[in-house]
Amino acid sequence: MTEGLAKKSTGGFAVLDFGSQFTQLIARRLRELNVYSEIHPYDVDLATLKAMAPVGIILSGGPNSVHDLDSPKRDVASLAELAPLLGICYGMQLIAESLGGIVETSDKREYGLREITWTKPFSGAVAKGQRVWMSHGDIVKVPPPGFSIAALSESNHAAAMCGPAEKMTDGPAQARIWAIQFHPEVSHTDKGLELLRSFAFDVCGATADWDAPHIVTRLIDRIRAGASEAAHVLCGLSGGVDSTVAATLLSQALGPERVHCVFVDNGLLRKNEYQEVLDGYRKIGLNVIGANAEAVFLKALEGVEDPELKRKAIGGAFVDVFQRAAAKLPHPVDFLGQGTLYPDVIESVSVRGASVTIKSHHNVGGLPEKMKLKLIEPLRELFKDEVRAIGKELGLPRELLWRHPFPGPGLAIRIMGSVNKEDLELLRECDHVYVSELRRAGLYDKIWQAFCVLLPIKTVGVMGDSRTYERVLALRAVTSQDGMTADWYHFDLNFMRGLSNKITNEVKGVNRVVYDVTSKPPGTIEWE
Ligand code: XMP
Repeated sequence: MTEGLAKKSTGGFAVLDFGSQFTQLIARRLRELNVYSEIHPYDVDLATLKAMAPVGIILSGGPNSVHDLDSPKRDVASLAELAPLLGICYGMQLIAESLGGIVETSDKREYGLREITWTKPFSGAVAKGQRVWMSHGDIVKVPPPGFSIAALSESNHAAAMCGPAEKMTDGPAQARIWAIQFHPEVSHTDKGLELLRSFAFDVCGATADWDAPHIVTRLIDRIRAGASEAAHVLCGLSGGVDSTVAATLLSQALGPERVHCVFVDNGLLRKNEYQEVLDGYRKIGLNVIGANAEAVFLKALEGVEDPELKRKAIGGAFVDVFQRAAAKLPHPVDFLGQGTLYPDVIESVSVRGASVTIKSHHNVGGLPEKMKLKLIEPLRELFKDEVRAIGKELGLPRELLWRHPFPGPGLAIRIMGSVNKEDLELLRECDHVYVSELRRAGLYDKIWQAFCVLLPIKTVGVMGDSRTYERVLALRAVTSQDGMTADWYHFDLNFMRGLSNKITNEVKGVNRVVYDVTSKPPGTIEWE
């Protein structure tokens, strides 16, 4: 884990991860309340936590029972000495067990939306019949000495408990330890955010200072402190939000003459994209050079059909082109700047360990070692929505901040099977018509990502009086929060009719259009 930004603020929250699928959400919700939060593995050492000086500590849920031999354990009393605690689900059971209460396996599993009744409501709670999201098999049968039950479930089990009231430095005496059996971070829970708000501000006395202007100031200070006076940075730009915001921050912190950006034309971009993006970068003041390398990438992709091998070929070509472009820079560089986001960082600190590789998204592996560069990743504590917010704060244009995500391997993974220049041209034209129509109809911003997929099959058609035998094009449009899950977008059928006509009329080489109605899971967003 990198040094937390919280050090420079009035203290943030430490979220200890006991393996819940919702741990990230807890951290996000706190940040929505404008308080800093960072996720640590459940067994992070006490010294690291002390150095962070958290205003509050949250113990996440998890898949285990506290009675499992190998369940993740933590001494709760020593955590409570550092800051007020909130235990969620498994976190509640751990607090109970660790402080002398009794946890039992329930005869009835409480799962899904359930009603609870508060006996000792926190501020803002619905006193009776609050609907909350639960998923647990164990229950707190007897709270620890000095604790009282604060809410009951429909089955009369403890749904919340709190420790003895203690006198705070200012304000009335109140409990410093809270524990709830349900998930306030999940949107289905009524007033879940209110509960977190109450814990953050009433119990912990947090300060709401995690907002775009403060984040920008802190990030810029940190970049300046981390890079020496004379350091120069190399940044690879992709045309996407993350790399642009990272490069802009670095440029504002160190001056554009010390931040050398490279934008590679791999021949796999969309229509006119290379020139438009390059011009856009110059307009926002980035010190950028373009590297035209279509031929290198097409050569590397020749005859490659397998999606993962395509990614490897593209990654390899990228490293070569990038290194050659960097060698021509007017000044030697010390750092490689990257737009890595917090979700990528959390993956590697999580209690769950590395997840199974579905697709290898990281195409630039090994670059820092190969080029003997230190890494500088100014966004590694931020979520995507925070990156957009600071992009806005930095004055980046709206169109850039709200562009649909575009994968590093570009159109190459939207042509099924092997890739050639003619198919790329065909797909580029189709994509151009599709995206222009979405913009014209005011739909672009309602959709997370929309693109065309060129299939390796031809079908028979009729145009005028002639028979055609041309390619099939699949359209994809999905809504999503973060790309992890997605649903297909429900277009108006008249819009689809017009779109299909326009593509088959205007793009020679496609005579049939189909629409993908698969959500993720079971499908992925891209077809390869
Ligand atoms: P999937 O297809 O895995 O995509 O559901 C989730 C998000 O990731 C993008 N994606 C990639 N991005 N390199 C990237 O930089 C890749 O190899 C890659 N594959 C998928 C995809 O466009 C979607 O936004």
